[in-house]
Amino acid sequence: LDRPRALSGIQPTAGSFHLGNYLGAVRQYVALQETHDAFYMVVDLHAITIPQDPQELRANTRVAVAQLLAAGLDPDRCTLFVQSHVPEHAQLAWVMNCLTGFGEASRMTQFKDKSTKQGADRTTVGLFTYPVLQVADILLYQASQVPVGEDQRQHIELTRDLAERFNSRFGHAFTVPSAHIVKETGKIYDLQDPSIKMSKSASTPKGIISLLDEPKVSAKKIKSAVTDLETVVRFDEESKPGVSNLLTIYATLTGVSIAELERKYEGKGYGALKTDLADVMLDWVAPFRARTQEYLDDPETLDNILAKGAEKARTVAAETLALAYDKVGL
Ligand code: ADP
Ligand code: NA
Repeated sequence: LDRPRALSGIQPTAGSFHLGNYLGAVRQYVALQETHDAFYMVVDLHAITIPQDPQELRANTRVAVAQLLAAGLDPDRCTLFVQSHVPEHAQLAWVMNCLTGFGEASRMTQFKDKSTKQGADRTTVGLFTYPVLQVADILLYQASQVPVGEDQRQHIELTRDLAERFNSRFGHAFTVPSAHIVKETGKIYDLQDPSIKMSKSASTPKGIISLLDEPKVSAKKIKSAVTDLETVVRFDEESKPGVSNLLTIYATLTGVSIAELERKYEGKGYGALKTDLADVMLDWVAPFRARTQEYLDDPETLDNILAKGAEKARTVAAETLALAYDKVGL
């Protein structure tokens, strides 16, 4: 296989993915499995950087895998695994920690936001080095493309910096990766506050669509999305962020262009747009939820997929780790 490599990871923390995760990241995972030698993992080691309930984490990790399969990942066309099943992640992370400046890590905006919210006493050192673990995740697979949402751009920049630093200090070991961010869907906004991104940590329940919620609940949230005082359905992210967000969601889920949607709703108000998008949402979420449940009801198949995935991932990861250890003198 001479295809370029892609890698990405998603946290199991919330149980359900949200619509931003799906449109910004998971949809791209599905697309890239056709063109890349793609590795996708549920990042349970990242999940323990904030307090976890062990049983819940174990269950949510499986729910995350089931959702990735329900979204269209095909274990015959990509490598799907759980991060902690491949010990090389933690091993390479240590090497990369020793190459990362304290000031450099301190400048990561996600860490600054999360640690400010939690307070210094509740913030773990694990949360501080989270981006460095992510660096190791990517470099282990020699990934050239990393499908992520816009919020991950700084972490991918750090990955590039550290790969280049390692390569020039110790000799070439790592592919320098690029972020694969789709402009249209790289940042899906909160439905109640379209000035912030939809996020499991910052959004209020009404502002976030959880894909495993009762479909009717999601439809209702679309109907009560915050828009603006105009009534014209027009894509304009600057002055009409709420409506533009709805148009992005609508266009991406249906494949209808935004220009066509603007024409379709000309002279109609936001009510028509929201009612139709609520239906689109229902039609998308209901089968997604059913497929997820089917995978969860078949634990043997899920176990087999993960065992095969971990084995494939380890073959690649072990080779890179051995090279990196050798280069640094271990
Ligand atoms: P969250 O940011 O809600 O905590 P994760 O950190 O688990 O979720 O993100 C998983 C993936 O989803 C990442 O690639 C991230 O960039 C992407 N993502 C998260 N929120 C959004 C959003 N609102 N719009 C687009 N992509 C997003
Ligand atoms: Na994120």
